[in-house]
Parts: sequence; structure tokens; C-alpha cells
Amino acid sequence: MSDLTYQLHHLCIYEKNPRDAMWNWLKWYHGIPAFYWSGMDGFHHTDEGHVDYTFLACGGPFQLQLESPPFQFEYERKWFDKHDSGINHICWIVDDAEATIEPLIAAGCEVAMGYEEFDGVYNGFVAIDPEGRWIEIMSYVNGFKTPDVEFYPVGARKLQTLGAMQLCNDLDAMVDWYSETMGQRILLDRRSDNTGLVYMVDHTYDGRQCVNVLATPDNDAELAIMDRHGPAISGVLYHADDVEGVYADALSAGMEAVIAPTLDPRTKAVTGTLREPSGNLIQVRERLAA
Ligand SMILES: [Fe+2]
Repeated sequence: MSDLTYQLHHLCIYEKNPRDAMWNWLKWYHGIPAFYWSGMDGFHHTDEGHVDYTFLACGGPFQLQLESPPFQFEYERKWFDKHDSGINHICWIVDDAEATIEPLIAAGCEVAMGYEEFDGVYNGFVAIDPEGRWIEIMSYVNGFKTPDVEFYPVGARKLQTLGAMQLCNDLDAMVDWYSETMGQRILLDRRSDNTGLVYMVDHTYDGRQCVNVLATPDNDAELAIMDRHGPAISGVLYHADDVEGVYADALSAGMEAVIAPTLDPRTKAVTGTLREPSGNLIQVRERLAA
């Protein structure tokens, strides 16, 4: 078991039309805790390029990052050329990003982007997990921290982000890997014969209630994502008091219907599935008791 602590922070959507895509989220109870744009002197400019990015949040500490071309690095452009709009990475906060490089490589990660110190506000690098999903590792320095929203359910329907959903080829192996390498513990285990779904959480779950879902594809939409991208970060998980209501609101906000709210036999929770403008999935489930 790793004695390094990894705290789930955000997932990042690469989106070629972020200003258009953002409206759906904003109309669906999301706010903007932070916006960094390429016109800011020296911030997020590298020798290779620059980037705009916007953080979106909805009642929980787990946030979405919308990032737009041309991107800061060539390795990011290569990913975008291959995958187009989609979820590029999940970010984990650690105390010391540099100290995690060797353990992650020893556990089978490749390094996509070497360790960098960004503008005196954070240090980090990007690894690739053993099935090919990207992991951003970041530590804050000099008192910097990306802003949070209030960790409080939004609106009368009480919508909140819960975390990220990741589709796996070898679910058992990935559950073991995220446990042993990244110190995650299993909150909910609905597997049989290496198929199903597992909710994993980090050491801050009691206060922050963020979930990392590892699963095998369970419907045509998830199979299509695996066909297109391979094992991938497939979407964002939410919970709400009124799943039917937030589902209807999501349709009004421009999200696309995939599976209307129904009982998910894996979690025993009423769950609805939608697609957001970049093609990723949204799942809204009934409230998960902390
Ligand atoms: Fe990120």
C-alpha cells in the first residue's frame, strides 16, 4: 500500500468549442470557480504553446476543467489529434508531486509529460496508467490553491458532483492497481467475473465525498466510448435528491438523453445517463449517503 496520499481533484475535458459547450453546464446548475486565459502574462504559456481553461463546479469539491486548443504542449496536441473532444485526464493533488514519479513508474505508468514547475503556483507531471488513461499529478506551492465552490447541494433538486467514471479492460487488475499504487479504498464493490462496477475513494472521502468509479462497459454508449478511445475516462458522476428533475433540467440545458432514470441493478440506485456536448457521459444517481 502506498503511503503517498492522492486526493481526487478534477477531470479535464479537451473541447474545441469550450465557449459553446460551457453554456450547457452553466444552464445546468454549474458555476465557474476559476478561469485562466492565455492573455494572462506568463501564466500557462510554454515554449510550445498556450491554453485557456475554465473550471466548472456544482456543489461538490470534484470539478470539471474545460481546456481548449492550441494547448501548452505537443504531447497534448497529439492526444487531441487522435481523440478529438473528450476527457483527457483526471487530476490528483499530492503533497509532493516529484516524490510520486518513481513509485508511479515502478507501478507500470508511463510519463506523458515530465515534471514541471508552473509559474510558482503548482508543480506536476502527467503519467499514463497501465491501461492508458492519463493521470495528472499536481502539488500546490506558495499558498496557491484553485478556488472551490461551496460544498453544498445546488438548487431545490440538490445536485452535486461526485466524481469520475473510468472504463476498464481488466477491472480486477485496475481495482488492485488504484488500491495499491494510489491508496484508494473500496467503498462499493459490485463485481462478478471481472465485470461490473466499483466505487473507490481517497483518504478525504469523509469530508469531501469524491468517488472514482472503475467499471466495465454496461450499455451501448459506454461500449461506443471503449471502441472509440480504448479504456477511457468516460464521464462525470453526480448525485441529487431529485434525479428525475435534474435529468429533465439537463435535457432543457442542452444535454442529450442516453438512458432515462431507472434502477441501476449494479448500484441499486435510480440513475439517469446523458451525453454532454463533448461526447462524454453524465450519470446522475440518487443521493449516496456519506
Ligand atoms: Fe488538469
